Amino acid sequence: MNTAIIVAAGKGTRFREAKKRKQFLEVLGKPLVVHTLQRFEDCSAVNEMILVLPEKEIENFLQIAEKFGLKKLTKIVSGGETRPASVLKGLNAVESNKTEIVAIHDGARPLVSNDEIIKTINKAKQTGAACLVASVTDTIKEVSGETIVRTVDRAKLRRALTPQAFRYEILKRAFTENDFDEKATDECFLVEKLGVEISVVEGSARNIKITNKEDLILAENLLKDFR
Ligand code: CTP
Ligand code: MG
Repeated sequence: MNTAIIVAAGKGTRFREAKKRKQFLEVLGKPLVVHTLQRFEDCSAVNEMILVLPEKEIENFLQIAEKFGLKKLTKIVSGGETRPASVLKGLNAVESNKTEIVAIHDGARPLVSNDEIIKTINKAKQTGAACLVASVTDTIKEVSGETIVRTVDRAKLRRALTPQAFRYEILKRAFTENDFDEKATDECFLVEKLGVEISVVEGSARNIKITNKEDLILAENLLKDFR
């Protein structure tokens, strides 16, 4: 069985919206995180979804899940203070004896495609660990204070997207073997520290994360004709 853990327990501090956390903002008639969950609901490679939410949103979300027909959503758990803490809470809810691959995905990435999810899960099945990535299109500078130190060779750089998928045992080890780094912004970072090789899967620039307000305007437009 393949399980997707969707993390949506963040505070959205960079988004700067006081009334509602970004993942619950209505976009084209549904909360942003519902768009994300529907990508996984509709993907044949995914058998179940575990959703990580702020504690106070869990009860309310049961109705939302029903309304939007999220049948693969088996568990909703409360998140932690940091992203890795939230992922760990989701991971602790995974049934280890039944699960082969765990795919972690940001609730704030509603534009992930069916193809990206399938390719990442399949790659993790083959190699143990896989990360969806995108190329870097801007010229990248290393800076020190207010001046440029050098230009970095962007051909070797990739942006880490989600999903990131792993065999269950590998991800479990990444969280238990070392004291995991609370500042880790993705799971690959923790798996890299184990010394496990991670395969890359080329993804699309369309798979943006809603981080700042401008991202939502772009996402809304892209979602209008999402296929
Ligand atoms: N996330 C989470 N638990 C946390 C922090 C983040 O589940 N303690 C989730 C977010 O809800 C989001 C994903 O991880 O879906 C990616 O994180 P990010 O874009 O950084 O969201 P926030 O942490 O909410 O935003 P910010 O960093 O601007 O506060
Ligand atoms: Mg964050």
